[in-house]
Amino acid sequence: MARSESVVINEVGPRDGLQNQARVLAPAQRVQLIESLLATGISAVEVGAFVSPKAVPAMAGTDEVVAALPPGAADYSVLVPNLRGYELAREAGCTTVNLVVAASNTMNEKNIRMSTADAMAVSRDVLARASEAGIAVQAYVATAWECPFEGAVSAAEVMRLSGDLLEAGAANIVLADTIGAASPGAVETLAAEAVDAFGSERLTCHFHDTRAFGVANTYAALGAGIRRFDASIGGLGGCPFAPGASGNIATEDLVLLLGQEGFSTGVELSALLRSVQLVGELTGACVGGRAWRWLTLQQEKGRLRGEQVVR
Ligand code: COA
Ligand code: ZN
Repeated sequence: MARSESVVINEVGPRDGLQNQARVLAPAQRVQLIESLLATGISAVEVGAFVSPKAVPAMAGTDEVVAALPPGAADYSVLVPNLRGYELAREAGCTTVNLVVAASNTMNEKNIRMSTADAMAVSRDVLARASEAGIAVQAYVATAWECPFEGAVSAAEVMRLSGDLLEAGAANIVLADTIGAASPGAVETLAAEAVDAFGSERLTCHFHDTRAFGVANTYAALGAGIRRFDASIGGLGGCPFAPGASGNIATEDLVLLLGQEGFSTGVELSALLRSVQLVGELTGACVGGRAWRWLTLQQEKGRLRGEQVVR
């Protein structure tokens, strides 16, 4: 792998992380969390979701969150499950929206109450409107390796949906292991096929750490040429509609891996640890990635320098 390259981390804790917490945060607390993330130097943050507040109470008030954020401090995005969500995001002034289409029909039915075909039709509609409005669209292809209801997912279906979404105007495809069931070999195979077909600059990987494969899967995707990853502060998260899913790969684990492998992320580790502490206090949940304890110890020894741990 070529070193000294930069890798973009898209922080999804304020959406994927918070949507599944027992404690629902007020918009002002979500803004406080996002501001602490901005202080780490992170360049992209998914700040919320325009979804039904009945379906996901934790994301109610995303319009207030968006309005309170310092403009231009990072690339902000919001999740939108349907046309209604897109319109709300546009009215709130969002410049990037995240669509979600699962590569499994049952997952689409459970998550957004649409078949895959209907979800694709809605996506094309949103993509056309967004293009006219100058809004960028990232398209998540969820359950890209395994579905909690249907089991193994066909790579051909993932490639087909990704190709169609790009052709319809998506700026980026996020290959999402929604339940954290993929293993490194399968990640490498699909990521390599996608990089070959679509180009690395149009791809992101999104891993959950359910089986402790988050870092291994990231490494496999890096090897296949992926240079953009989602991660969640403290490993917070899980999908309320995907049984068994746990949190995303922790941002601190990802920054540590990338820094040690010589990739640049621009994320400052000590600021990131302050953010982990804050999200723990706000949610009352036990958070912290797999490396959190060790990183805290390194911090006490004064060994954190920017994105690196030095001796
Ligand atoms: N934002 C806010 N409210 C929305 C909405 C949106 N994007 N889309 C629909 N609604 C509201 C409707 O106004 C309606 O409200 P009412 O009951 O007060 O009349 C209610 O939700 C149901 O609307 P309907 O069009 O029948 O949607 P549905 O019942 O088929 O639900 C979703 C579909 C997508 C809105 C809902 O399942 C949802 O928000 N899911 C969240 C998905 C998610 O965040 N998953 C995790 C991340 S992948
Ligand atoms: Zn996720």
